Amino acid sequence: MAGVSTDLRIKDFSRIVFFTGAGMSAESGIPTYRGKGGIWKEYDYNRYACQEAFDRDPDAVWEFHNYRRSLVAQCTPNRGHELIAMVERTMPTVTVVTQNIDGFHQYAGSKNVHELHGSLWRVRCDQCGNYQRTEMAPLEEVTCMACHAHWRPDITWFGDSLRHEVLMAATAAVEQADLLIAIGTSGVVMPAAVLPLIAKKGGATLIEINPQETEMSDAYDVTLRGTATDMLTILTEGLDDSLPQAAADGRQGT
Ligand code: OAD
Repeated sequence: MAGVSTDLRIKDFSRIVFFTGAGMSAESGIPTYRGKGGIWKEYDYNRYACQEAFDRDPDAVWEFHNYRRSLVAQCTPNRGHELIAMVERTMPTVTVVTQNIDGFHQYAGSKNVHELHGSLWRVRCDQCGNYQRTEMAPLEEVTCMACHAHWRPDITWFGDSLRHEVLMAATAAVEQADLLIAIGTSGVVMPAAVLPLIAKKGGATLIEINPQETEMSDAYDVTLRGTATDMLTILTEGLDDSLPQAAADGRQGT
């Protein structure tokens, strides 16, 4: 089924996974990676987003990284992030599996979030194992206090492996899902792109929200061609955040 008309509603499912990509935060003003205005159109990831680049020129990588931190720090979560957090407050089992590093799901109130590609707001020291959460702002001190090596952004760069425990937790969530909603991802980056297929194998209904067709569109049961905020507004119809869960259950029964 293509187009924005669907009878499916989130309230009719019980184990829901939101699988999100850069398009989720596009309406917050954060550029996506590919397509018009995409980050990788303007910046060569071989110079700014891989271990070799960091080993070669950590200052250049940090300049790029701090630019991204300052850009995201000026933005705020959008209505779509808020609706997903509302679904988690209202429904029994809701998981967010995100490729995004902006932290906006948690900022909007989501608690059960697996960040597949790390976080803009964490740094680590690969020399001494130090690890630190940071403010949502450019980082002024980019060396580790313990050993004075450069902090490394705790982000999955090109060529890096995903953190094992995060990938395992995300995989378990999609295996158990009865609904997976992919929002704003081109579906070209592995291994993340395979998660919807795992959900499908487990019997989940798959919905794609994206204004554009993607390479993975054919795998979805329903494709909603619109923005994250518009389509989530439709799919969350019938969920009422203002009622405690027990009252909401009772109301559904009447
Ligand atoms: P992409 O930039 O590849 O894809 C973004 C998708 O969002 C596109 O398919 C757009 O059509 C769609 N989109 C744009 N605006 C939208 C909106 N308002 N609502 C819904 N969808 C919209 O981003 P990702 O798929 O997230 O990895 O990219 C995956 C990974 O590649 C990223 O996590 C990043 C990147 O390299 C790392 O940095 C490790």
